[in-house]
Amino acid sequence: MPIAPTETTALDLTRVRAQFPSLSQTVAGQPAVFLDGPGGTQVPQRVIDAISDYLKSSNANTCGAYATSQRTNAVIADARAAMADFFGSGPDEVVFGPNMTTLTFAISRSIGRELGPGDEILLTHLDHDANVSPWRALEERGVTIRFVDINEDDCTLNLADLEQKVCTRTRVVAVGYASNAVGTINDVKEIVRMAHKKGALAYIDAVHYAPHGPIDVRALDCDFLVCSSYKFFGPHMGILYGKREHLQRLQPYKVRANTNAVPNRWEWGTLNHECIAGITACVDYLADLGRQVEPSASTRRAALLAAYGAIQQYERGLAETLIGGLLTIPGLKFYGISDVAKMERRCPTVAVRVAGQSPLQLATKLGKRGFFTWDGNYYALNLSERLDVEKDGGFLRIGLAHYNTAEEVQRFLAALREIVG
Ligand SMILES: Cc1ncc(COP(=O)(O)O)c(C=O)c1O
Repeated sequence: MPIAPTETTALDLTRVRAQFPSLSQTVAGQPAVFLDGPGGTQVPQRVIDAISDYLKSSNANTCGAYATSQRTNAVIADARAAMADFFGSGPDEVVFGPNMTTLTFAISRSIGRELGPGDEILLTHLDHDANVSPWRALEERGVTIRFVDINEDDCTLNLADLEQKVCTRTRVVAVGYASNAVGTINDVKEIVRMAHKKGALAYIDAVHYAPHGPIDVRALDCDFLVCSSYKFFGPHMGILYGKREHLQRLQPYKVRANTNAVPNRWEWGTLNHECIAGITACVDYLADLGRQVEPSASTRRAALLAAYGAIQQYERGLAETLIGGLLTIPGLKFYGISDVAKMERRCPTVAVRVAGQSPLQLATKLGKRGFFTWDGNYYALNLSERLDVEKDGGFLRIGLAHYNTAEEVQRFLAALREIVG
């Protein structure tokens, strides 16, 4: 059945959803509702096709003197160009890896080679552990780790605390673009400015932000920014942007036979070529979405920006409906920004707890009715500890993506109300 357009969206939801085959699944006769995007989004058919087409027609290792190998080189170059459009960077500043965590360990170990006692790294209580543990690993070299606190009332980052803690001993400020637990979007541009003022590098985890908003690494002026394509409608891979000068100067741990050219010196062993083919397809999916809302978009980058403009506008409306409904549920505690006037400072990812039921109990009951939510800390361990919910099962997380509908949100709210009783 076609989905009626609302005044809050330029997106054609019927057309969007038709591209995602998995959205038509059912659970116990009920349509599945995917509210688990923060753990990984669904993929459009063109991503599935790109992966299987690669395996059918181009499957080979790189740099061989024959057709499939040459096609593989072209597939990787295409994906680098696609991600350069996505980041607003040069293609030689795009590094592929298995996931964000592995890429972050690669960069932290490499930066760590130059650090020792007296050096400091600034992390936050809001971040996913993948932007915490790789830096904490440098404590064994004598590096001091410091943490920026949050404002507990709305789970925003305490920027005054950050400004006070960043100093001339700080070598890296590692911070998330958006929280995968409570949805807060950080003022990354300002944080990068504060880091640079003291001579520190800024390392940005954009994994959670990437499906929800446009990234412009030049405008942010960040030194590194990392994301995972499986969170923005693509395959399970991680992608890193690094400023050219850093990718050239820093020394990676790598095998001797690997080239020393940038960016390949940061890519070790054979990459996941079929998923790299899928990355181009997911960027092109987003660009096509942008061209539908803004046919005059003349470049892929312009089309991506148009797509994200429409996604942001649509998701803010959905988030408002979701949060407004959640706040009326008796016994429910909401974590994060709930003020409708501040929706642009959050992603449509919310965390709640309900008195008398653990997050796992809630997620299980919802799951049986076809609502896919998440429970626990989702690796935002610093935050669940800071808010003292770690010992009680963490949070229940509801994450919206642009393929969700207002009708799904209403059905979810009705189901949760019933479950809560
Ligand atoms: C905000 C954030 N950062 C980092 C990660 C880790 O990403 P990956 O699974 O690609 O290592 C996740 C995964 O959930 C995340 O949500």
